[in-house]
Amino acid sequence: MAKTTVEVHLTPQDLAAQLRADVAAGLSAAPKTLPPKWFYDAVGSELFERITQLPEYFPTRLERELLRRHSDEIAAISGADTLVELGSGSSTKTRLLLTAFEACGQLKTYVPQDVSESALRAAARLLETEFPDLTVRGVVGDFTGTLAALPAEGRRLVAFLGGTIGNFDPAERRDFLVGLSGALTVGEHVLVGVGLVTDPAALVAAYDDAAGVTAQFNRNVLRVVNRELGADFTPDAFDHVALWDSANSWIEMRLRARRDMIVRVDELGMTVRFAAGEELRTEISAKFALADFEAELAAVGLEPARGWCDPGQRFGLVLARKAECSAG
Ligand code: AVJ
Repeated sequence: MAKTTVEVHLTPQDLAAQLRADVAAGLSAAPKTLPPKWFYDAVGSELFERITQLPEYFPTRLERELLRRHSDEIAAISGADTLVELGSGSSTKTRLLLTAFEACGQLKTYVPQDVSESALRAAARLLETEFPDLTVRGVVGDFTGTLAALPAEGRRLVAFLGGTIGNFDPAERRDFLVGLSGALTVGEHVLVGVGLVTDPAALVAAYDDAAGVTAQFNRNVLRVVNRELGADFTPDAFDHVALWDSANSWIEMRLRARRDMIVRVDELGMTVRFAAGEELRTEISAKFALADFEAELAAVGLEPARGWCDPGQRFGLVLARKAECSAG
């Protein structure tokens, strides 16, 4: 019989406090910023699902194909019986890994982590029927909090898929990887999906699709701030901007004010001015050379065991093993 439990490490109150702090800091910064974390309310998660199906947005398809081809090897090399997935969302890609673990007879526990309790419960329900012997221990939390409180039993593989690691700036990424390495026991593994540096035109198209779904996704963060903090942004008065920053090797998404605007954020007692043409940064999505990313892992004591990428070298997967002593 399948067993499902959900632990809450992050309450709606915690999330609300984080949003307030992020919005207060980001909208008073120069240039203005908002973290990508806040895209993903129910509408934003739905828009992201649509993005993954766009012809221009290749990362999800390529990663799924890599998982389809290499899950057996990932299960064999890692020897894991517990799959932890950071930012699991709808857990669709996870099935490929769970199936491979099951085929090796080494599947005991799946630990999906997400900020959305409803997404976790919905994913757990589907998995329960598909994998009747699986124990699902959902964790409502964010990446950092989850690492500190990760269930410790079993031999774990921690998966961080989708290229979401690119949403951290380099300092945040380093902190995250140090925390990830520190949370693991020697011999446990991580599996990270990374977007690779490729043709800038193709990258920009992936973040600025012809149908305008990404533009809607981008503006959705303003709707979230309106609803949660009583702000009065006019989302349609902002243009979606996606650009390739070659110096930093990342895609940047911005919202550009079409005209001068004054925005009230009631719950923060804040008044924010936008000049016509002013840009608010909403996301960075860093792209890597596979070897550079492997070196970042090695530097924190996560020894790359195996890396894969698609024939066009646009997306990569790295499997790394927690080494005896971290150089961190
Ligand atoms: C889910 C964070 C990996 O950075 O490519 C998609 C989010 N933003 N289109 C990414 C996203 C714009 C996506 N991640």
